[in-house]
Amino acid sequence: MTSGKPGADIGVFGLGTMGSALALNFAEHGFRVAVFNKEVDWIAPFIATAGPLGDRLVGAASLAEFVASIARPRSILFMIPSGAPLDAMIANILPLLEDGDTIIDGGNADFNDTRRRSAAFEGTRRHFVGMGVSGGAEGARHGPSMMVGGTDHSWQHLRPMVEAIAAKHNDDPCVAHLGPDGAGHFVKTVHNGIEYADMQMIAEIYGLLRDAGGRSAPDIGALFESWQDGPLGSYLIEVSAAVLQTTDGATGKPLVDMILDQAGQKGTGRWTVIEALKLGQSASTIEAAVGARGWSSAKTTRETADAVLPTAAQTTDLPDEATLASALLAARIISHAQGFGVLLAASTAFDWQLDMARISEIWRAGCIIRSKLLDDIAVAFRAGLPDGELILAPAMIETLEGTIGPLRQVVGAAVLSGVAVPCLSAALAWYDTMHRARGTANLIQAQRDFFGAHGFERLDLTGAQHGDWRPITRS
Ligand code: 6PG
Repeated sequence: MTSGKPGADIGVFGLGTMGSALALNFAEHGFRVAVFNKEVDWIAPFIATAGPLGDRLVGAASLAEFVASIARPRSILFMIPSGAPLDAMIANILPLLEDGDTIIDGGNADFNDTRRRSAAFEGTRRHFVGMGVSGGAEGARHGPSMMVGGTDHSWQHLRPMVEAIAAKHNDDPCVAHLGPDGAGHFVKTVHNGIEYADMQMIAEIYGLLRDAGGRSAPDIGALFESWQDGPLGSYLIEVSAAVLQTTDGATGKPLVDMILDQAGQKGTGRWTVIEALKLGQSASTIEAAVGARGWSSAKTTRETADAVLPTAAQTTDLPDEATLASALLAARIISHAQGFGVLLAASTAFDWQLDMARISEIWRAGCIIRSKLLDDIAVAFRAGLPDGELILAPAMIETLEGTIGPLRQVVGAAVLSGVAVPCLSAALAWYDTMHRARGTANLIQAQRDFFGAHGFERLDLTGAQHGDWRPITRS
C-alpha cells in the first residue's frame, strides 16, 4: 500500500533473479519500491519491462539518490551474494543511512556473518536484519516463505510489507520474526539442510527403482506423481515427478538420463552440519546428504571402481511401491526431527527462544520443503511438545508405527542389493539409537577411562569414577 508519505516504502538493492522478483512482488502488492543495482544500466530496462508495475518502481542514478528516494525509517533489502560483496556494499551505504534505517540481507548467509554484521550495527541506531527467503524465483515473485531475524524495530517496519508479499497457508502469511541477529538466517540454513536430506532421500528411492528395479525415469516419475495425493505430497516430490517425466528435446530420451550425476552445493547444507556438530548435535540425515553430494563429484574414481571393485551384492526382491513410499515418509519425519533438534540446540545456545510451532507454520507454503508432513508437524508443535522432540509427538509416533518397518525393509533390501542409500540408512540408524534406552556408550566411557583416565559416571553412584583396569600384558 503506498503510504502517501514521500518516498518509496522499501528499497531493493540487487536486480538479479531473486531481487527483481521480490521488487515486482512488493510492487504488485501496492508498495512503492526504490530499485538499484551495482550495474546501474540494468535499472532502466528492468523498470521498462515491468509493465504497469513500473509505475511503482523508482529508479536511481546513484547510491545516494537510491537511499534518498526511500521513506524514513528506511528498509533496504539487499539481494546480492552474502559474502565479501555484501560487506563492501554495507560499507558504501552506511554513511548514507540515518537513525532508524535498516539494511536487510535476503541472501543465503552464514549466520555467523549475520551475527558479526548485527554486532557491528549495535549502538549505531542503524539496524541489520538477516532474512532467509525460500521458494526460488517463482516463490520470490508470487509468495516466498521468509525467516526474519534482527531487531523488533526493524520488524515493526518490515512486517506489513513482508506479510503482504509472503506465501499464504490458508490466510496465514508464511513469514515471522524468529529472533535477534542471526536467528532468521540460521533457521533458513536448517531449512536448506532438511531440503538437502529430502532431495537425497527421494534420489535414493529413485536409485533403488532404477538400479535394483530396472524401472525407467518416466515410470518412476509417474509413481512419484501418484504419491503427491498421499502423505508424501510435497513440492520436492512434485518437482521430482516432473523432472523424471521430462523428455530431452535433442535425443528423445528422458532428460534426467542425459544429466551428469554430479551435484554441486552452495554451502547451506554444509553449514547446517557444521553448526550441528558445534552444538554437539548430529543431523546425520543432512550430513549424509551433504556427503553424498561430495561423493557424487568423485566421478572418475567411481567409474574406475565400477569395473574393478567387488560388490558381493545379493539378488533380492525390491520392496513394493507402498513400502517404498512408507519408508520415505519415515525417513522424512526423522530428517525433520533432526533439523528441529538442531534448531532447539541453537535456540538454547544463542538464547533465541525460537518458536518451533511458528517455524513449522511458515514452512507450510512458499518454501522448497513445503509438504503435507509439515502441516502435521505444525499441528504437533502448536499442540505443545514439552521437550521439543518431534519424534515424540503422538501424531509422529502413530505414523512411525506404520512406516518404520517399511524403512527397515527398504534399507535392508538396498544393503543386500548393493544400492547406496546413505540418507535412508542414516535415518534408520538414528531412529534405532533413539528408541533404545540403554545404548553402548558405557563401553566408550570405559575405553576412554582405560587409556586416558577420563573418568565415567556409574549408574549407582554420583560423580566421576575410575575403573580398576587390569593393564594389558604383552608377551
Ligand atoms: C530455497 C533454496 C535456495 C537454495 C537452492 C540451491 O529455499 O529457495 O534453498 O535458497 O539456494 O536450493 O541450494 P544448493 O546450491 O546449496 O543446493
